[in-house]
Amino acid sequence: MKGRAAQLKRTAKEAAACTRCPLYRHATQTVFGEGPVGAAIMMVGEQPGDQEDRAGRPFVGPAGKVLDRALAAAGIDREKVYLTNAVKHFKNEPRGKKRLHKRPNRYETEVCKVWIDKEISLVRPQLILALGVTAAQSLTGRRTIVLSRERGRVLELPDGRRGMVATHPSAILRMPDEAARRAGFSTLVKDLRMAKQLSAS
Ligand code: URA
Repeated sequence: MKGRAAQLKRTAKEAAACTRCPLYRHATQTVFGEGPVGAAIMMVGEQPGDQEDRAGRPFVGPAGKVLDRALAAAGIDREKVYLTNAVKHFKNEPRGKKRLHKRPNRYETEVCKVWIDKEISLVRPQLILALGVTAAQSLTGRRTIVLSRERGRVLELPDGRRGMVATHPSAILRMPDEAARRAGFSTLVKDLRMAKQLSAS
């Protein structure tokens, strides 16, 4: 375990210098995953947002707050989860003083896959939960993911590991009204509970 933790640290250092795709040019820094080696659950988001880019940590902005609430409701300790993203740099478009989020394309996601593969091989989670479509595409290698069809069930990932797909917390924030956001949030909690159960079995 100690050896794997040290290797993970070295991998994070290598990733900090990553120029495999052009996204590093407009980002503050690489946002590598965080959490313990041996974590039972690995959660994979899309890419860091504005606040994650500045802080250098995944899921610390508004989507992270939703995820934290959902984890607490599902009885999952964030400290015991390995949290990472499909793409390690914040893809954005400057608009005045703001930086608008742009979805990573297939090339960027594929080129960045090398880092998640290393994280998976060192963390060795029992279950990998993709948060949203980009992470699900990256982990399954499939071009089309219909979230409403895939969520809430177990998937076999190409490397034989168990995976699941859940709604991305940002998608919940973008839902049009309070009722939809409430329903989206309870579904996420339900999926996190299932992930917890599966990761322990
Ligand atoms: N959205 C993500 O997908 N990942 C983060 O780290 C933050 C927001």
